[in-house]
Amino acid sequence: MNDKINDLLRRVEEFKPKAAAEVEEFRIRILGKKGELNALLDEFKSVAPEYKRELGQKLNRLKSEAIERVNTLREQFAAQAAAAGSDKAGDMTRPASSEELGSRHPISLVRNQITDIFSRLGYTIAEGPEIEDDWHVFSALNFPPEHPARDMQDTFFIEKNPDILLRTHTSSIQVRTMERQKPPIRVVCPGRVFRNEAISYRAHCIFHQVEGLYIDEGVSFADLKQSILYFAKEMFGEHATIRMRPSYFPFTEPSAEVDVSCNLCGGKGCNVCKGTGWLEIMGCGMVDPNVLEASGIDPHKYSGFAFGMGVERIAMLKYGVKDLRLYFENDVRFLHQFDNAL
Ligand code: PHE
Repeated sequence: MNDKINDLLRRVEEFKPKAAAEVEEFRIRILGKKGELNALLDEFKSVAPEYKRELGQKLNRLKSEAIERVNTLREQFAAQAAAAGSDKAGDMTRPASSEELGSRHPISLVRNQITDIFSRLGYTIAEGPEIEDDWHVFSALNFPPEHPARDMQDTFFIEKNPDILLRTHTSSIQVRTMERQKPPIRVVCPGRVFRNEAISYRAHCIFHQVEGLYIDEGVSFADLKQSILYFAKEMFGEHATIRMRPSYFPFTEPSAEVDVSCNLCGGKGCNVCKGTGWLEIMGCGMVDPNVLEASGIDPHKYSGFAFGMGVERIAMLKYGVKDLRLYFENDVRFLHQFDNAL
């Protein structure tokens, strides 16, 4: 019996399992009801009294050593499993994996920049419908019927007589504002506009505008020029300068195109400004008295100026984007470049 106890003790001490399942097998074989230890205890009953004391103590030691060995091995395997699990989702102490954050579309960024700049000059934002009638897009803006100026903006018509159409500029919002409000009026009108144009690197049939309108007593062309200069410096930097070239719009008189000094070459001439040192950014002018009158504003008392620009164009100039179609393709490699843009 002594030999059997010694043998089992040795096997307990030398037991080196490779997997948790082996520990459980070992426990059942040694410590289980029909296990080797119980068999020894049975045998112990018939041991001669003079050996009982010594063998009894040995058996007790064997039992506690076997239990302890099984417990330690179980803990070791549990710890190993937890360590392996921490590579997967199981470890609650692991830092969360970062979610990919979306970013603002460059067109939204630039539209917000434009409206922010004008809001610092006291302008509020006005919006209006994309589906418009002829009055708000053309007639109230001094486009006579059949006037060739209507050809300047290739219109998408939805219905004819009376004409329902997609707005070709956000000047329609300015008309709606003048109909609703009494001067002084100071609004910027951001929005999507539609023109039946062939899609290319510099034109799209859907694009975005921000137009502005300021009407009060005694508003002059000098006010217009100063406001646009302020805008250009805020948008393109302190060194930006502007120049105005005479132009024509049915709703303004006089009218001008505004150029800003090329921010890439500093006015020296490069391939973006085609060697001129200037980039065209918007149209503007003094609101034609006919337009004021059409919206119920007394042109003898009030005067005002209006301006309008394409958001895509401003964004192209500001960020050096060469192809306007990139704005509409929603390729995340393009969009991610504006993650931290201001
Ligand atoms: N509405 C003009 C356009 O879409 C821009 C403009 C607005 C020009 C206001 C002058 C004054 O081209």
